[in-house]
Amino acid sequence: MIFFSFYFVSYLVGIAHCSAVHHQLSLDFYSKSCPQLDQLVSSVTSRRFRDFPVSGPATIRLFFHDCFVEVPSNNGGGGGVVVERDVGDNKSLAPEGFEAVDEVKALVETKCPAVVSCADILAIAARDFVHLAGGPYYQVKKGRRDSKVSLASKVKLNLPRANSTIDELLRLFTSKGLSLADLVALSGAHTIGFSHCDQFLGRLYNYKGTKKPDPFIDPRLLKALQMSCPHFGGNTDIVAPFDVQTPFLFDHMYYGNLEANMGLLASDQALFLDNRTRPLVQAFGKDKAKFFEAFSLGMEKMGAIRIKRGKKGEVRRVCSKHNKSG
Ligand code: HEM
Ligand SMILES: *[C@@H]1O[C@H](CO)[C@@H](O)[C@H](O)[C@H]1NC(C)=O
Ligand SMILES: *[C@@H]1O[C@H](CO)[C@@H](O)[C@H](O)[C@H]1NC(C)=O
Ligand SMILES: *[C@@H]1O[C@H](CO)[C@@H](O)[C@H](O)[C@H]1NC(C)=O
Repeated sequence: MIFFSFYFVSYLVGIAHCSAVHHQLSLDFYSKSCPQLDQLVSSVTSRRFRDFPVSGPATIRLFFHDCFVEVPSNNGGGGGVVVERDVGDNKSLAPEGFEAVDEVKALVETKCPAVVSCADILAIAARDFVHLAGGPYYQVKKGRRDSKVSLASKVKLNLPRANSTIDELLRLFTSKGLSLADLVALSGAHTIGFSHCDQFLGRLYNYKGTKKPDPFIDPRLLKALQMSCPHFGGNTDIVAPFDVQTPFLFDHMYYGNLEANMGLLASDQALFLDNRTRPLVQAFGKDKAKFFEAFSLGMEKMGAIRIKRGKKGEVRRVCSKHNKSG
């Protein structure tokens, strides 16, 4: 049974990958079948940005996970566009991202039924939220199809962790065809949004078993984070902002923060501590336009990782489940 599943999975992934080489995504993919798609998406994203600001960071992160895990999944209807909601650390993706995609999808289905994939909707919505928060506006290529399979077991292996080293991050990103510059630029998405305390608690009290805090945290930030996140018995729902000053503004403050030892996750601060990534942190910290350009390019590359085309995918009617699920 295990051998069969493994073979089956490899087969699907292999085909999807090969066909991506022959059929590129395109800007005008829906120009005939759904010419008003961009406006439909932005009517929802702009309203949600105003009414539920967390939709922005939640959707951008969902897009990242969707690209890396490569399987918008069914998983018995319990999952959203990606499977992670059904796996162990299920509180980690905020529901506002799934909700934003579902709401756009429902509207799009009323105007252009059964032609626009959830994966494309997620890519466009993420771009909208980046722009609404003050970040760059970039064109989104389309033509992705939604997955017909669920690969819950792949989630953990394909996502970085808050304590990943630069070596691990580089290995993961290059395995996806992304560069060191993409890693540094895309991590700049942490200029908005929030993290749960458990993701950085080790840095506050017992860094690598030293019983002391991580030496590379600014003392005032350390104090503030210790107040919000007690060592023991804290509420597991507590979150802290990545960027203390402007958690909903998409700017290049993230990099300035890293230079001031004010990174939130170990994986953030590591980008400044490692001499391979430090020069880019400094460059993006100095030059917002340079960061925006690199971020837009990174999002485009990330959005093209192992896309599904043709019969290997489908256009879901409802994003949370694949069409044939019961
Ligand atoms: C480089 C490796 C990365 C690591 C280790 C990482 C890790 C994390 C962690 C642990 C959280 C907090 C989750 C929680 O406690 O709720 C988070 C949040 C977030 N991540 Fe990343 N991430 C990485 C890269 C990225 C990339 C490439 C993007 C998008 C381009 C991204 C976008 C976000 C956003 C927007 C949030 C805030 C979500 C919210 O407020 O709901 N991250 N990330
Ligand atoms: C989330 O996962 C935990 C285990 O990590 C489980 O106890 C809990 O019931 C799950 N919650 C939901 C809503 O699935
Ligand atoms: C990261 O944390 C996890 C537990 O959350 C642990 O299993 C893993 O060994 C840690 N990795 C490193 C490099 O410290
Ligand atoms: C980084 O520092 C190490 C020593 O700590 C050195 O061997 C290496 O050449 C440096 N690499 C870069 C890119 O500066």
